[in-house]
Amino acid sequence: MSTEPRTIRLRAPDNWHAHFRDGPMLDFLVPVFLDSGWRRRIVAMPNITPPVLTGERAVWYRDALLARARAHDPATTFEPVMTIQITESTTGDTVSEARALGVGLGKVYPFMVTTHSGNGVQDYDRIYPALEAAEEVGLVVQFHGEHPSDDIEGLNKEAGFTAILDRIRARFPKLRLTMEHITSRAAVDWVKAQDENVGASITVHHLFTTVDDVLGYSKASGGLMRVHCGCKPQPKWRDDRAALNEIALSGHPRFFYGGDDAAHLRRRKENEGSACGVWNTMAALPLLVDLFDRENKLDRLDPFLSEFGARFYGYDVSAESLTLVEEPWRVPAEVEAPGMGDTVVPMCAGETLKWRVQA
Ligand code: NCD
Ligand code: ZN
Repeated sequence: MSTEPRTIRLRAPDNWHAHFRDGPMLDFLVPVFLDSGWRRRIVAMPNITPPVLTGERAVWYRDALLARARAHDPATTFEPVMTIQITESTTGDTVSEARALGVGLGKVYPFMVTTHSGNGVQDYDRIYPALEAAEEVGLVVQFHGEHPSDDIEGLNKEAGFTAILDRIRARFPKLRLTMEHITSRAAVDWVKAQDENVGASITVHHLFTTVDDVLGYSKASGGLMRVHCGCKPQPKWRDDRAALNEIALSGHPRFFYGGDDAAHLRRRKENEGSACGVWNTMAALPLLVDLFDRENKLDRLDPFLSEFGARFYGYDVSAESLTLVEEPWRVPAEVEAPGMGDTVVPMCAGETLKWRVQA
């Protein structure tokens, strides 16, 4: 007698923060997103080379992503959501022109904290002209919330960033903004205390890991430092992870999923200096279903994945659906990146997860 495995049907999930890269890496990554269940809206982060600084470049990037997706699946309903990077040189006109070309989002990186952030912001007063235009034309601004000052140490950079956001909010109260990939109780509390103009994205790795997983103190890490768990902002303490889990599971409408899927070639991770980023694209949905299921909150997963973010950013909720099956699924230990002579190591590499995405 065979029993059918359990299945769960979700609305096709959105992902409000992801890195597609460009060139051969883009060609490799787009199909992985689609095959892993990320088939609807995905925010395409602008930190490619050269970066996406204008509406024109965003349109070029969107077309490149769409072309790749359609080559993989002609019937795809994938919708890249474009964001331009806002730097100290971004003018109000650049923001308005991007908005007129259909770009709804802007992204702010702090100087030299993460991948390709050499053009990031040091003095936040200098982006006020761009923020003023964003407030006026309704461009939502996504902040990588880590303080660029050397005076604030790494694990405190996110909590320290709320002081910068407080000043921005006081000056531009109608600006819609998000704190991206939040990692700390301090950030959760700060976002909760704001009004409807402020949201936050949460990744899967920050729901699952802590700094001990990165530094090799957790039993699961076997005493070894785990560069593939390393990203910016770094995972924090257990209490911070608990705060992220509580808020994600609580159904708070201003906290939604953004994976910060950040693939790097193995040689860029396993090196003297290790690039920041977790490649969670394949494991994310099985892990999230398992988490919400274990907590008996499966009904809250759909809104977290496909409703709260859409509402915040002014989109309709998707009509499509996605099914996951409760069947053991082994995450590959690494995946070959064609034409690049290397592989990329996914989150949960080599582990067997409880759920798999139906093709
Ligand atoms: C991202 C990347 O690799 O582009 N890395 C990361 O650790 N999150 C950049 C970013 O979002 O900060
Ligand atoms: Zn990112």
